[in-house]
Amino acid sequence: MRMTIVEMLKKAGNDFVSGESIAGELKISRTAVWKHIQKLRECGYEILSRERCGYRLKDAPDLLLPSEIQIGLDTKIIGKKMIYHPSVDSTNRAAKALAYHGAEEGTIVVAEEQESGKGRLERNFYSPRGKGIWFSVILRPKLLPKEAPKCTLMAAVAVAEAMNRFNLKAEIKWPNDIIFDGRKFVGILTEMTGEISKITYMVIGVGINVNISREEFPEELRDVATSLSEIKGGYLSRVEFFRAVLEEFDKLYCEVCETGFDGVIERWKNYNVTLGKNVRVISASDSGESFTGKAVDLNADGALIIDTEQGLRTVYAGDVSIR
Ligand code: BTN
Repeated sequence: MRMTIVEMLKKAGNDFVSGESIAGELKISRTAVWKHIQKLRECGYEILSRERCGYRLKDAPDLLLPSEIQIGLDTKIIGKKMIYHPSVDSTNRAAKALAYHGAEEGTIVVAEEQESGKGRLERNFYSPRGKGIWFSVILRPKLLPKEAPKCTLMAAVAVAEAMNRFNLKAEIKWPNDIIFDGRKFVGILTEMTGEISKITYMVIGVGINVNISREEFPEELRDVATSLSEIKGGYLSRVEFFRAVLEEFDKLYCEVCETGFDGVIERWKNYNVTLGKNVRVISASDSGESFTGKAVDLNADGALIIDTEQGLRTVYAGDVSIR
């Protein structure tokens, strides 16, 4: 309902829209319209009201509100339903709970801040308020569980393709860190529940550092992390970038459902900075074994093939650093 009001106000541009016409369109009373306007103001919308003229939208907040993101969002599956949290412990945790209770495929959980954002390998993920896009997508793909890692590659390609739209160049380090000048600004964490032969649901969590300046990062991250605003050299609208990511994500996911992962793997290779490089791998297995070699290819499962002194080794999960 509120989304329709915002849409009507946006469409009118600098003109006022009468309370009566909003009430008529939504089939509610003018008092109810006024209450919705108050709520929108509380969310950060600057709405002018003038007697006998109605309401005019002066400014919309760069908050990741469904009412903002869903306007003009061109997707078939992703983001038709969005759950917004000003603050949450982890969007992945919240999305897993929703998925467990039957939330539909494509549902998004997004937050302005995460109090305990989860990273890969049990690490924390820095997710300050209003500075990034911290979100999780619920998927129910008809895939085998062993194919799940390729969905993570797909998410990385979606962010890379969204960056293209903003004339920003993406580099993906296997499996799914997006980096610039060796510093990371996007992390992806895929979690899954299923049986041996079937995925029940999958949650793909994506964290994008958008408007974080170097000084704003905690000291320990300053040399290893960066953000889109640092790369672009200026502020970037989170709402617009998020919409672009969701649209690219949707396109790729629909393609995967119809024709499989070949296209995703090809595109991933175009963005990758790992293949052809000498790397050190720390395996994600309990042994935490580490070894070096040259990254030579991805196999059909999206695993990394390393040419080592002992021969070819295939890495399904782990940390890779380029030497
Ligand atoms: C990594 O690079 O270690 C993965 C980081 C994944 C972070 C995202 S932010 C949104 C979602 N919710 C979480 O708690 N984690 C993921």
